[in-house]
Amino acid sequence: MAELTRRPDDMERITTPELAKKFIDEQVELMKAQIGDKKVLLALSGGVDSSVVAALLIKAVGKQLVCVHVNHGLLRKGEPEQVIKVFRDEMEANLIYVDATDRFLDKLAGVTDPEQKRKIIGGEFIEVFAEEARKLDGIEFLAQGTIWPDILESEAGIKAHHNAGGLPDDMNFELVEPVRTLFKDEVRVVGKALGLPDNMVYRQPFPGPGLGVRCPGAITRDRLEAVRESDAILREEFAKNGLEGMVWQYFTVVPDFKSTGVKDGKRTFDWPCIIRAINTTDVMEVTVEHLSDELIDHLVQRIITEVPGINRVLFDYTPKPPATVEYE
Ligand code: XMP
Repeated sequence: MAELTRRPDDMERITTPELAKKFIDEQVELMKAQIGDKKVLLALSGGVDSSVVAALLIKAVGKQLVCVHVNHGLLRKGEPEQVIKVFRDEMEANLIYVDATDRFLDKLAGVTDPEQKRKIIGGEFIEVFAEEARKLDGIEFLAQGTIWPDILESEAGIKAHHNAGGLPDDMNFELVEPVRTLFKDEVRVVGKALGLPDNMVYRQPFPGPGLGVRCPGAITRDRLEAVRESDAILREEFAKNGLEGMVWQYFTVVPDFKSTGVKDGKRTFDWPCIIRAINTTDVMEVTVEHLSDELIDHLVQRIITEVPGINRVLFDYTPKPPATVEYE
């Protein structure tokens, strides 16, 4: 059974396109043998791991793979569009796109507790995915982007990493986990060799609850849009200034309080936007990335002029510990 595969102690680290190609060829053969002429389902978030799994499966079984991309309304600007462009248009995958934004935001309305927000997002995700799965006939396999650190962390009791966990009991799929022996850097090398775009392969970590944890307290559509737009500006400026792929994680947060400002001679009462940019190796401890004064000034100018509802920009200089990376 593929789900019991472990990383062999003497496995060579995949660092080159040649080694990646060898891995890809082996996995394609293994998946062809495992899946035969049956159908496979995959929740495709657009993150590195699920994207690499999708590209591998498209190579192995083509249209027998059914990808489901659930837009929970908390994705970054342009993400759902990119998933559709890369997988449906370019790789000709069988892709079901579900825009569940209203469902998620309606359920989250007025919910302020961070754990409750996470539970709603996780629970609703499983429900939407299961609903789509039930509409399909003849699915026997479920593909997942489980990677080797997930297995190690769940064995060490750090994280409950049961990606399939939570699916209703009657949905009894056999698992297909082609990247489960790989470390993250190897998944990226394989993704590059499969021809996935750089901004997908070298993507910074993005939490499952998405922008929901960067819109602290009760999520409202207007404040969520302010997070999404300011995040898009930050990412664009990091890319332009050669910082993309160099800084571990960078994003914006729009907290739920307002302060007085002035614009065009009139008083404003709007939110602040907080910029967070951090570096780390293991995410247990993080340091702050110090940006140049010019870049900070430019970011402030763009955010206050382009993002409705923002009249102040702050920079978070706090390392972890004591502050976590995310705000919730
Ligand atoms: P913290 O905030 O705990 O974040 O210092 C450490 C890393 O984990 C990411 N993170 C999450 N990832 N679901 C995820 O998939 C989550 O609920 C979640 N919370 C935090 C965070 O972005 C950072 O990279």
